[in-house]
Amino acid sequence: MFTGNRFALIVVGVGAVLVLQYRDALDSTVCVIAGVSVLAVGWLHRLLFSPLEVLRSPDDVGYIAENGRSKAQAANDVRRRRKTGELPPVYPNGWYRVLDSQLLERGEVKNVTVLGEQVAVFRGQNGRVYVLDAYCPHLGANLGVGGRVVGGCLECPFHGWQFRGDDGKCVKIPYAEKVPEFAKVRSWPTCEVNGQVLVWFHCDGEEPHWTVPEHEEVIKGEWVYRGRTEHFISAHIQAEEVLLLPNFKHSRKNVSQERVMVTSPPYRRFLKMQQTLLTWLTCTLRALSVEWICRYMKKSWGFLRHEWKAQWEPESEPNQHCSQMLVNHVFKVFGHDWHLLDVHVVARQVGPGVVFLLFNHSFLGRGLIMQCVTPVEPLLQCVSHFERDVTIWNNKKYVSKPLLVKEDSAIQKHRRWYSQFYSENSPRLQYQRDTLDF
Ligand code: FES
Repeated sequence: MFTGNRFALIVVGVGAVLVLQYRDALDSTVCVIAGVSVLAVGWLHRLLFSPLEVLRSPDDVGYIAENGRSKAQAANDVRRRRKTGELPPVYPNGWYRVLDSQLLERGEVKNVTVLGEQVAVFRGQNGRVYVLDAYCPHLGANLGVGGRVVGGCLECPFHGWQFRGDDGKCVKIPYAEKVPEFAKVRSWPTCEVNGQVLVWFHCDGEEPHWTVPEHEEVIKGEWVYRGRTEHFISAHIQAEEVLLLPNFKHSRKNVSQERVMVTSPPYRRFLKMQQTLLTWLTCTLRALSVEWICRYMKKSWGFLRHEWKAQWEPESEPNQHCSQMLVNHVFKVFGHDWHLLDVHVVARQVGPGVVFLLFNHSFLGRGLIMQCVTPVEPLLQCVSHFERDVTIWNNKKYVSKPLLVKEDSAIQKHRRWYSQFYSENSPRLQYQRDTLDF
């Protein structure tokens, strides 16, 4: 199967050969038109058949640069001067995504920042993924930068000490007869589910309290990866509670990464194109925000109306760490339902860091958007979702006693549910105060 880049290269190559072959018979205008057409075909192929990836750096979005200042300066100003409010602990207990599986080959190691720590994520020669604290206890080299995978162990790039992925224990010191019992690094509980690598965090070092559910369609390859968006948000992780506001036009959520997986429709011939259309539709709607589109439709196309209903509920034991929100979108044309555009969404949150958004559309089919919230620092989440909202998150403070109206009742309900992810020893911001600038 050709990837978009390979196909574009082949098209350009074939075009170049044809032009060179028949250049005497063609005048320069025809050559230019032929060249542009070849590039257009390559671009179109890439547009339709490659996964869509929108990745933003921390100061790209959500800061207003005034008086000739750069966005990075504006971002640092906001982060330094902003009032934080009375924040809950900064790292709730739970599972967090660190990487996509496809980004880690067998025998590869990566240095990742997660929950204020540097970790070395590596895939052993046995195919398993391990996560270790990155700094070598010998003289502090970073195992994730230049470290070498040896079987199921990671070898330090400095003096070659080897640490076992399973438990972080040092199993070999090349120049020593004996390995001290206490020579080890922290090994993080890790799982690889739905094409993602996740780590478990608990402030008291407790073992995982629950597992992250697998989606059969993803495991079997029936749903395929069609794109992702990624942003950084300068906010506390619990800022997501706003998702629950019944007023959907103001809803938003901070997530580290969002992957769109879509299902195979019955007519496989159009599979790829349909998936791409769905991905573009999803990502475009999310980037522009549903609110903006609906406002425009209301103003310009009075005959077209968008209505929706949402309901949030926590789940009962043994899944008390999960909650569900059901959302139904209905489009009306001249007051009549137009079912072709109806979308039914079930958003299932699993702990503080993972949300599965299952959607069902009569024409475009079923699909899954995986949203993962991963704190990088206490007040820095790597974020995706409605780009327009990033500005609000980057500048807001956390209000511990918010002024709510009757229709906001879901917010308090969600805060009570969310409090189960904090323990007495959960880390608080004051210990991390010096990490706020980037
Ligand atoms: S610093 Fe890692 S082996 Fe020396």
